[in-house]
Amino acid sequence: MGGPFDKLVEAAQSDFDAAAHKPLLQAWQGLPLADIRRDLTQRLIGAGIEEGAEETRFLLNHTLAPASLAQALADPALFSWQQAEALAALSWRRLQRVPLSQVLGNQPFWTLDLAVTADVLTPRADTETLVEVVLAETGDAPACVVDLGTGSGAILLALLSERATWTGIGVDLSDAALAVAGGNAQSCGLADRTRFLRSRWGEALGDGAADILVSNPPYIVSDVLAALEPEVRDHEPTLALDGGADGLDAYRLIIADLPRLLVPGGLFALEIGYDQGEAVSALAAEVGLVAIDVKQDLAGQDRVVSGRRAVA
Ligand SMILES: C[S@@+](CC[C@H](N)C(=O)[O-])C[C@H]1O[C@@H](n2cnc3c(N)ncnc32)[C@H](O)[C@@H]1O
Repeated sequence: MGGPFDKLVEAAQSDFDAAAHKPLLQAWQGLPLADIRRDLTQRLIGAGIEEGAEETRFLLNHTLAPASLAQALADPALFSWQQAEALAALSWRRLQRVPLSQVLGNQPFWTLDLAVTADVLTPRADTETLVEVVLAETGDAPACVVDLGTGSGAILLALLSERATWTGIGVDLSDAALAVAGGNAQSCGLADRTRFLRSRWGEALGDGAADILVSNPPYIVSDVLAALEPEVRDHEPTLALDGGADGLDAYRLIIADLPRLLVPGGLFALEIGYDQGEAVSALAAEVGLVAIDVKQDLAGQDRVVSGRRAVA
């Protein structure tokens, strides 16, 4: 004990009380894994986490790897006291309503497995609609994609993973988010086709920088933020969420610059809130963008506004 590895673990947990999870560990002392599983599920549900059983399975599989939960339930030798301690530390954070993605450190998006920290929005399944819209509108011709507000890099990396001839620029105002996105580009094997840039939206980009421009900007009405789930309100970056008094602040800035940023005929696709289709389409029409369309997500809610810069 006390070696360099312990120091690393300590540093990683320094924002939390290192002993906070100990009561959980004590409660589990001497219990078989099946009972610990039941206890953790009930604690998570009691903390307001509806998917407590499913999340327990994720936490256990993460802790037990490379063994699976099924294997460890069948063979008690596969669950050590050190693993119980690691499980207690992770579970304690989740019980404080830290998002599961941040507790586990990763989140699946599209076909990718992305690192997630408190500095980036956890990529949402709804955002895959935007990826689908862009893929449906394009072919294999080489293109440069600009992703404004790239966060974890989710949209940009998903698109580049599907189109081997495309290159991309991920833009964010947050240096910490850009570091996460850069790491994800590396781990997805896409670093050689991506560049990351700190900029206030498209300000640092030249005219015609984008054949395709995508963005999932912050679009939550400021007054609504306080009513969000604790996972979002207390643990995701406000910079990724707050869309101003009517939720449209970022769209006004981004759309005003689209005719400059896009090449003639270039495609844009913006994620929107379920009730923002009309307002965002109107902003796009005001600056002369064409072929404006609103697409729905799998739940049937308006989710993406797309269109093009006119050819001439
Ligand atoms: C809703 S998150 C989207 C993250 C990621 N694209 C996704 O879909 O999961 C919005 C992102 O925009 C970034 N952002 C907010 N204001 C910005 C600005 N003025 N310029 C550039 N990026 C900004 C935030 O840091 C955040 O990463």
